[in-house]
Amino acid sequence: MLLLSLAVVLLQVDSGHCGLPFYNGFYYDRVMNDNGNGNGNGEIQFNGVRLMVETPQDALFTYRGANVTLPCRFYYVPKLDTPRRIRIKWSKLREDNTKDQDVLVAVGSKQRSFGEFRGRAHLQQSSPQQVSLVIHNVNLHDYGRYRCEIIDGLEDESGVVDLELRGVVFPYQPHHGRYMLNFYEAKAACEEQDAVIASFEQLFQAWSEGLDWCNAGWLLDGTVQYPITLPREPCGGKDLAPGIRNYGERHKHLHRFDVFCFSSALKGKVYYLAHPHKLTLEEAKQACQDDKAEIAKVGQLYSAWKFRNLDRCDAGWLADGSVRYPVSKPRPNCGPPEPGVRSFGFPQAEKYGVYCYKMS
Ligand SMILES: *[C@@H]1O[C@H](CO)[C@@H](O)[C@H](O)[C@H]1NC(C)=O
Repeated sequence: MLLLSLAVVLLQVDSGHCGLPFYNGFYYDRVMNDNGNGNGNGEIQFNGVRLMVETPQDALFTYRGANVTLPCRFYYVPKLDTPRRIRIKWSKLREDNTKDQDVLVAVGSKQRSFGEFRGRAHLQQSSPQQVSLVIHNVNLHDYGRYRCEIIDGLEDESGVVDLELRGVVFPYQPHHGRYMLNFYEAKAACEEQDAVIASFEQLFQAWSEGLDWCNAGWLLDGTVQYPITLPREPCGGKDLAPGIRNYGERHKHLHRFDVFCFSSALKGKVYYLAHPHKLTLEEAKQACQDDKAEIAKVGQLYSAWKFRNLDRCDAGWLADGSVRYPVSKPRPNCGPPEPGVRSFGFPQAEKYGVYCYKMS
C-alpha cells in the first residue's frame, strides 16, 4: 500500500517536470525541494530501501611482499532489479584520526588509485556487487584500517577492514645510547633498519609470544610503553602482573626514549659471510659489497631469524654498527636458553664477522 502511493507520487512529479531524473519509476534517492517549477509536491524522501555494505569482522593477516585482497561487497534491502550507478571509495584511516588517506576511487569501469597505492591497488569485481580491494606487493606501511565506502546519490554506507602484518617486533636503541630518541627520530631509526615503528597491537602480540624488555620505547600512537613477561623490581615492580607497562602519551619533540620497531617477511636473504678472517666495520661493509650484497640491517636480521629460522652462533656486524647473531635453536655457549637475536651492542674497536643481505 505504501509502495503504491509512493509510485503515484513519483508519477505525478515526473509528469509535471520532465527535467527530473527518473529512477526506474521505482525508488527515489534524493530529497527534492520543488521551487515553483513543478507541481508543488515538495519533498520525496528515500523510501525503505537500504544500502548495505559488508566487510569481514576479523582482521586480515598478510606479510610484506604478498598480494592481499580486502573483501567488501554491497547490496540493497529489498533487492533491486536494476543496477544503480554508484561510486566506490577505498581509503585508509590514519592512526592520529587526521584526514583519511585516499587509496582508490571507482565509478563504472573507471578506477584510480592514489599516492603510494598508485599502480599497486585495484578493485576485484568478480560480480557487480563485489568491490574488494587488491593491494599488490604489500609493504610495512600498508598495515592499518581501510574503509570501503559506497556512495549512491546521497546515500553513503561504509565498512571497515583491518589489515595486519605477520612480523617481528624488536626494541631498538641507537649507537649513542639509551633514551636518546624523540618520537620523530624513533620513527626514522626504525626505517633505517628496514622496519617501521611498531603499533600497540604489534607490541601486544609480541609480548604474548614472550617479548620481555625493560627499556621504554615509542610506539606508533605516540605513547611510550614496554613489555614485561617476568615482573621484577626495576621494571615496574615485582608485584605488578606481567603485561605492557605504559608511560602514556609523551611529548613527541621533547621526550626521549628507545623505540619498538616492526618488520615483516623479507624479500631476498640474509647470510653470514664466509670470510677467512675477522673484520672491522668498514671492512665488513666492503666484504658484503665484494660479494654483490650489502651489509644487513637490524630489521633484516630479525626478519630472517623469525621467518627463515636463521641460526648462527657467530657475532657479525650490521649496517648500524651493532654486532648481533640470530639463534633459533638455543644451545650451550650460544647465549640465553630462549631463541632470539643476541646483541653485543655497538663495539668500538674489535673485529667480527658480518651478516650480508642480498635482494632476490
Ligand atoms: C602478486 O601479483 C603479481 C601480479 O599478478 C604477480 O606477478 C606476483 O607474483 C604476485 N605475488 C605474490 C607474492 O603472489
